[in-house]
Amino acid sequence: MKYNNILSETGHGVTTITINRPSKLNALNRETIQELRNAFEEAESDSETRVVIITGSGEKAFVAGADISEFADFSVAEGGKLAAQGQKLLFDFVANLSTPVIAAINGFALGGGLELAMAAHFRIASENAKMGLPEVSLGVIPGYGGTQRLPQLVGKGRAMEMIMTAAMIDATQALQYGLVNHVTPLEELMEFAEKMAGKIMKNSPVAIASAIKAINANFESGTNGFEVEITEFGNCFGTADFKEGTQAFLQKRKADFPGK
Ligand code: COA
Repeated sequence: MKYNNILSETGHGVTTITINRPSKLNALNRETIQELRNAFEEAESDSETRVVIITGSGEKAFVAGADISEFADFSVAEGGKLAAQGQKLLFDFVANLSTPVIAAINGFALGGGLELAMAAHFRIASENAKMGLPEVSLGVIPGYGGTQRLPQLVGKGRAMEMIMTAAMIDATQALQYGLVNHVTPLEELMEFAEKMAGKIMKNSPVAIASAIKAINANFESGTNGFEVEITEFGNCFGTADFKEGTQAFLQKRKADFPGK
């Protein structure tokens, strides 16, 4: 597929999606959000893709937020629609993907950029990364899941502080908060992300998809995560991956999982 604002490349089981509007610090305009949705959808249905890495082009920004120029004159109804459509189209879609998604944060991850990174299954940041939800400085609040996912990741008090102050935190503080799992020098970021992808790819993609579903269930209101875990655990016993994984262990060899 041809894209105007992103790059998508697949090799060795990994699809790397790069947001590519460096002159606008990779800000998410409407077209970029739609292209990201298409690229994630393509990766999900591609049997070769076992892990997705999402990153930003250039050395300055992952994504500096939603494109402010697109919504500056919106009405109440248009604002509500922007958040509802964006959450459904991209952010919730990414969070619920059955293919693991790693965000490789290579610079500013602000507003919608941090929300996109938080929708990914986990995050790695370069040492120069800066993260924040500055929306209240613009007279608005995070609308792509930020008020929900930030407290889930860092705790309510820290999320309140970050959102109220609109301040950025650096990679070290993000690591301390648990907002990112690892910090690397910028030039090693992608290599590190690919190494993590390699570790994931050794395991059953079918079981990983079940695990994502069960973990996400903990954060869905009205869903009993323990029950989802029981169902998903049971389902695993009917999969070719389970047969291969257990046989390989008993035969003292490496498992060769059939794929997703
Ligand atoms: N939406 C639209 N355009 C954006 C953008 C955004 N969220 N973030 C950056 N850009 C654009 C700038 O307008 C500028 O475009 P121009 O060269 O055509 O004027 C270009 O990207 C470079 O940004 P600039 O502000 O000149 O870079 P900087 O190094 O001085 O500052 C930031 C970097 C990230 C601190 C600053 O760009 C910023 O505060 N961006 C907005 C962050 C934000 O509030 N995001 C939340 C949106 S809800």
